[in-house]
Amino acid sequence: MRVAVFGAGYVGLVTGACFADLGHDVVVRDVVAEKIDALRGGEVPIHEEGLVELLARNRERLRFTLDVGEAIDGAEVVYVAVGTPPTYSGDADLSAVWTVVDELPRVDRRIVLAMKSTVPVGSGRAVRHRLDERGLGNVGYVSNPEFTAEGTAIRDFMHPDRIVIGGFEPEDVELVERLHAGIDAPVVRCDVASAEMIKLAANAALVTRISFINEIANVCEATGADVLTVARGIGLDRRIGPDFLRAGIGFGGSCFPKDSLALKQLAANSGYNFQLLNAVIEVNELQKRRVVGKLERRLGSLRGKRVALLGLAFKPGTDDMREAPSLVLAGRLLAEGAEVSAWDPVADGRVVLDGVDFADSVLGALDRADAAVLVTEWPELREVDWAEAGARMRKRVMIDGRNMLDADEMRAAGFEYEGIGRATE
Ligand SMILES: NC(=O)c1ccc[n+]([C@@H]2O[C@H](COP(=O)([O-])OP(=O)(O)OC[C@H]3O[C@@H](n4cnc5c(N)ncnc54)[C@H](O)[C@@H]3O)[C@@H](O)[C@H]2O)c1
Repeated sequence: MRVAVFGAGYVGLVTGACFADLGHDVVVRDVVAEKIDALRGGEVPIHEEGLVELLARNRERLRFTLDVGEAIDGAEVVYVAVGTPPTYSGDADLSAVWTVVDELPRVDRRIVLAMKSTVPVGSGRAVRHRLDERGLGNVGYVSNPEFTAEGTAIRDFMHPDRIVIGGFEPEDVELVERLHAGIDAPVVRCDVASAEMIKLAANAALVTRISFINEIANVCEATGADVLTVARGIGLDRRIGPDFLRAGIGFGGSCFPKDSLALKQLAANSGYNFQLLNAVIEVNELQKRRVVGKLERRLGSLRGKRVALLGLAFKPGTDDMREAPSLVLAGRLLAEGAEVSAWDPVADGRVVLDGVDFADSVLGALDRADAAVLVTEWPELREVDWAEAGARMRKRVMIDGRNMLDADEMRAAGFEYEGIGRATE
């Protein structure tokens, strides 16, 4: 089949590459000329495991363009994978989605517009009206939300837990289902509003689990229990399951914070106060800041103290720093008068963080530091010789925001070591 993908970001590129790999002809369209030039030249503007190889392997079935007409020409399905960031009010900003809808040219055959961007419930109905107003009755509409996680996006796309397709017309749903032939997964066929809600509810469920285990961790700290043991003990209960029970310094990224805010706002706009989600969001904000308290208990006032942030991306396997806990942490530390150094193997903090010293290596970031905070659980951090690293520091304090390192080894290397929800010395 011929597929057009609007948006060459994290989702659009993975979607385009995976559909090409399934044997479809794909044209990816973006509005940023440098991105399209880079992609045409074989460069990939984002860091996502396996993406470079997948794009290269499918070169003959993939084109990149700035031109709407070229993207739509012959396409049977047109994917929308543009950004939907939050506005000041917390609602999703759908301006890029509306631009795509308004850019669609008239076509003399039936095509299906498939929404992959995460949008509020009711957006599909609104797009349907706009298409009809524009006389584009032969453009069908489906909601086909994306559940991939950055860092594992290609595997998640090719081996999803489920494929959700919500449509107004059954033949549009069938067409989009056929496009996924070759992927072995249950298909949830439903109405558009339910498909939109499935995406938002799935993310709300995941963030609820994260804030839940973070609060359990905080109570563990206050009572002497160990959150790793507790998580294992509850995760073995089949009704609960083991995933998303890793306590840490809060969730971030381009989806969880904005989608939980958008659902909270969607509920509020509809006259409902989503109390549980409000609490989940607030717990997360407080969780990101708890590290500062931990540092103060070890170092006293942070004024003039040097703190090294190890990892800046919101999680390993990606260069994405949108809503990363590192941003809040760096901001709070600088506001307390601390000096902040930072290292990340792929994320470029220079674009978003002012006043931070960036180092090319973990050891460089730790130079003369009074404390280190493990922010992102990059596998590289397991390989560090901590005794050697500690020798470069002014004081050997490690706050392990992801419970990644071995407490005994760190203490043997001379560190005051503190994790999240674990016994401290
Ligand atoms: N990042 C994820 O892991 C993820 C997972 C699931 C769902 N989503 C959702 O998918 C959507 C896209 O997310 P992303 O992370 O890929 O965003 P992104 O910001 O990385 O990419 C969006 C791209 O769309 C382009 N664009 C803007 N207007 C355009 C237009 N009119 N025509 C063509 N391209 C245009 C931008 O230039 C940009 O390259 C969002 O709604 C997001 O919530 C993201």
